[in-house]
Amino acid sequence: MIQNRTCLAVILAAGMGTRMKSARAKVMHEIAGLPLLGHVLKTAQAVSDARAVVLGPDMAEAEALAKTLDPEASVHIQAERRGTAHAVLSVDGGVLSRFEIVLVLYGDTPLIEAATLTRLKDALDSGADLAVLGFEALDPAGYGRLIVADGRLAAIREEAEANAEEKAVSFCNSGVMALKGRHLPGLLEAIGNGNKKGEYFLTDAVALAFEKGLTAAAIEGEETEFLGVNDRSQLAEAEFLYQTRRRADAMAGGVTLQDPDTVYFAYDTELGADSVIEPHVHFGPGVKLGGSVTVKGFSHIEGAEIGDGAVIGPFARLRPGTRLSEKTKVGNFVELKNAAVGQGAKVNHLSYVGDAKVGANANIGAGTITCNYDGFAKFETVIGADAFVGSNTSLVAPVTIGEGAYVGSGSVITKTVTEGALAVARGRQIEKTGWAERLRQRKALEKKGNER
Ligand code: UD1
Ligand code: CA
Repeated sequence: MIQNRTCLAVILAAGMGTRMKSARAKVMHEIAGLPLLGHVLKTAQAVSDARAVVLGPDMAEAEALAKTLDPEASVHIQAERRGTAHAVLSVDGGVLSRFEIVLVLYGDTPLIEAATLTRLKDALDSGADLAVLGFEALDPAGYGRLIVADGRLAAIREEAEANAEEKAVSFCNSGVMALKGRHLPGLLEAIGNGNKKGEYFLTDAVALAFEKGLTAAAIEGEETEFLGVNDRSQLAEAEFLYQTRRRADAMAGGVTLQDPDTVYFAYDTELGADSVIEPHVHFGPGVKLGGSVTVKGFSHIEGAEIGDGAVIGPFARLRPGTRLSEKTKVGNFVELKNAAVGQGAKVNHLSYVGDAKVGANANIGAGTITCNYDGFAKFETVIGADAFVGSNTSLVAPVTIGEGAYVGSGSVITKTVTEGALAVARGRQIEKTGWAERLRQRKALEKKGNER
């Protein structure tokens, strides 16, 4: 239940987004590993006291996301998609009017920043009844135009409704609007659907407010914050703009990016100062890097916590549940999953370590594989501190290698190796003196026989 508090953010996300040509709801498409709706919800949380999310029927995935990210948010179903004003009305009018400020956000506009929303709210505090965030568009096509008369915002004209003169206006509607809650139900009810689309446009609230003598203000912001994602190419553009912002933040925070344009962050990537990220590194969700970490080129990291001074890659893949302690080394063509690696331990070449604990300063030789899965269940491998696992070893889990133990190269280890012991589990080498020469002579004789 929404309580009587001061600012309610209403997030409109009921549209399927036909222009995406997708079976997935538009707002569930992701940038930086988080659905569009998630970006908007997170920003809304920073500037409001309550959130109401308007979804269409059959949007269970979006509802689950909203509940996970913001358990207090209320979800409202707009049964029929009859326009943005109609969508706001799916939140009960009585509820809307109880809030001092109602902030309307669109679920397909993910790049807006909290500071900009605060500026919009400030406009209401300084006397406006309604305020809209606008921007000067390089290409205004598709956006509603903000019609300003005598310094006052008089109307928003949707592109399809605009005449030639209005179409020439490049000051565009971002879709974000702040209204005094007490005026909202009256304005919404007065909005009609006498337009080409036959929809109830929230944007018509501006002209109605103007007619009623209420004050409407347009607050200008940067176009890069207001990109609306309607199709896949705008999705790619939003990703680009978001990544550009994250790369700049990373460098400002003391992280070296050798080729920033090739590093991709997730929405929640946490970086530590003095780290160096080489080209072509991809961060999936859930990554936390300590200080002075080196991530070499072409590494792919998700769901991993990485301690100070660790060195990763090139070509490393860290999957969810990876925990690297300080000064660990994970080298080329190594995959780790659900694995805790102790301080100073090394897994330097061509290994798979999954569902495992690796003790401090252990050395895992090239080509070591934890055989963690039998086709039905996953099993754990425990490798003690200071253990040395020879190259090309298969560790058939569940299995334990004791502290300081050695495993001979090429072993298939199926039983516990005791602390400090050496285990070798492979065919014993035999040697036959002079065998090669005898073979050559026999073959030479056979050849002569055949020629005769
Ligand atoms: C809208 C604005 C336009 C603005 C542009 C900015 C209106 C009428 N037009 O146009 O002035 O320049 O955004 O990006 O508001 N939605 C619902 N229920 C509905 C209709 C829409 O929840 O019945 C949601 C959509 O899911 C979407 C948002 O409202 O998240 C905006 O709808 P959309 O159809 O994308 O509007 P635009 O044509 O982009
Ligand atoms: Ca849109």
